Amino acid sequence: MINISLRVNGRNYELNIEGNERLIDVLRDRLGFKSVKEGCGSGDCGLCIVLMNGKPVHSCMVMGFQAREKEITTVEHLGDEDNLHPIQKAFTDVGAVQCGYCIPAAILVSKHILENHENPTQNDIRWFLRSVLCRCGSYLRFEKAIYEVSQQVR
Ligand code: FES
Ligand code: FES
Repeated sequence: MINISLRVNGRNYELNIEGNERLIDVLRDRLGFKSVKEGCGSGDCGLCIVLMNGKPVHSCMVMGFQAREKEITTVEHLGDEDNLHPIQKAFTDVGAVQCGYCIPAAILVSKHILENHENPTQNDIRWFLRSVLCRCGSYLRFEKAIYEVSQQVR
């Protein structure tokens, strides 16, 4: 077992994990953050994306011990049903949420875009969103939602 400490959604955790445990397993199975979804398990679909020190990472491709001393954000940290984060609200307002499976990852990637591009272009948005596979084809609605939030914060 390996002892790690990490911070998830603003709270510190100290855990003993197996050397072969992935970050997605730590987040879902040990800490209960079920918004983190598994798709391909091999770094292709992006459904497992979380923010690690503010940057999107595929949590199926990061070992748990690599998150030692890191700050992890999952969508649970943004808002809840009664108090939606502006990105969550925009996603719902434009009808981007279809089956919902990719939405936690898409929202975290959107957060990253908005925090790093004051006025994101369509190319910026498409460049980052390419990392999330939305089988429902909501990409144009994701773009619309991100654009709308970018206009609110200007
Ligand atoms: S589940 Fe991680 S990239 Fe597909
Ligand atoms: S909303 Fe269904 S996979 Fe994206």
